[in-house]
Amino acid sequence: MNENIQKLQEWIDGSENIVFFGGAGVSTESKIPDFRSTDGLYNQKYKYPPETIISHSFYKRNPEEFFRFYKDKMLYPDAEPNAAHLKLAELEKAGKLKAVVTQNIDGLHQKAGSETVYELHGSVLRNYCEICGASYDLDYVVNYDGVPKCNQPGCHGTVKPDVVLYEEGLNGMTIDAAVRAIAAADMLIIGGTSLTVYPAAGFVDYYRGNKLVLINRDETPMDYRANLIIRDKIGEVFSAIKV
Ligand code: APR
Repeated sequence: MNENIQKLQEWIDGSENIVFFGGAGVSTESKIPDFRSTDGLYNQKYKYPPETIISHSFYKRNPEEFFRFYKDKMLYPDAEPNAAHLKLAELEKAGKLKAVVTQNIDGLHQKAGSETVYELHGSVLRNYCEICGASYDLDYVVNYDGVPKCNQPGCHGTVKPDVVLYEEGLNGMTIDAAVRAIAAADMLIIGGTSLTVYPAAGFVDYYRGNKLVLINRDETPMDYRANLIIRDKIGEVFSAIKV
């Protein structure tokens, strides 16, 4: 076990209030591409830039194109949790990890067994009719041909994913809970995120301890804040950790 992993293990063993803050890099080992790596979603070629497509104004203006991209590139219904998701759930069950704060919308932390998960950017598993508020599951959206419409009697509203699009705000209660958890943590583990999208990236500023661990393949603008940096695949790092 290399010395960085050894140090991570010691800090985890000595902590009772760990919070994990993660991004798309946590799910790449579950075969869900991230956004900004070379093979990430934002570096592939489309008619419009992906950040334009997954914005509120584009969703309103061009729902057909939005849902074509969204279903093709943002939904991975068969993805399974990887070692990182599973170990975080184990650490929660052992009473050592108090919350996962994620920018991901894939629901894999809950699928792995995590219970306290703050989804800053929402979840593809939750979908609501814009008119009557009826809720629909992921299968309904995946299997609906074209723009998903509500099937409640007399309603034909568009079924919108509960995902924070560009130009939309984050859920106030989720922000509040995530900030409280980070501020109370004795150890903050950040993993699989470029820490370039605000306000999410700014939440790590609320951590006041001296056990800030950054597990990320590439450099981030917050590397200077880390007390320990591990430049490795996060699933492999967590595989080496004992609860
Ligand atoms: N192990 C460790 N790090 C990894 C791995 C891995 N297996 N795979 C990728 N990474 C790292 C990459 O080096 C990159 O720095 O994860 C990071 C992923 O960064 P982004 O692709 O920018 O994803 P994220 O930080 O989650 O993006 C934030 O941007 O467009 C929005 O809403 C979207 O939630 C997303 C937000």
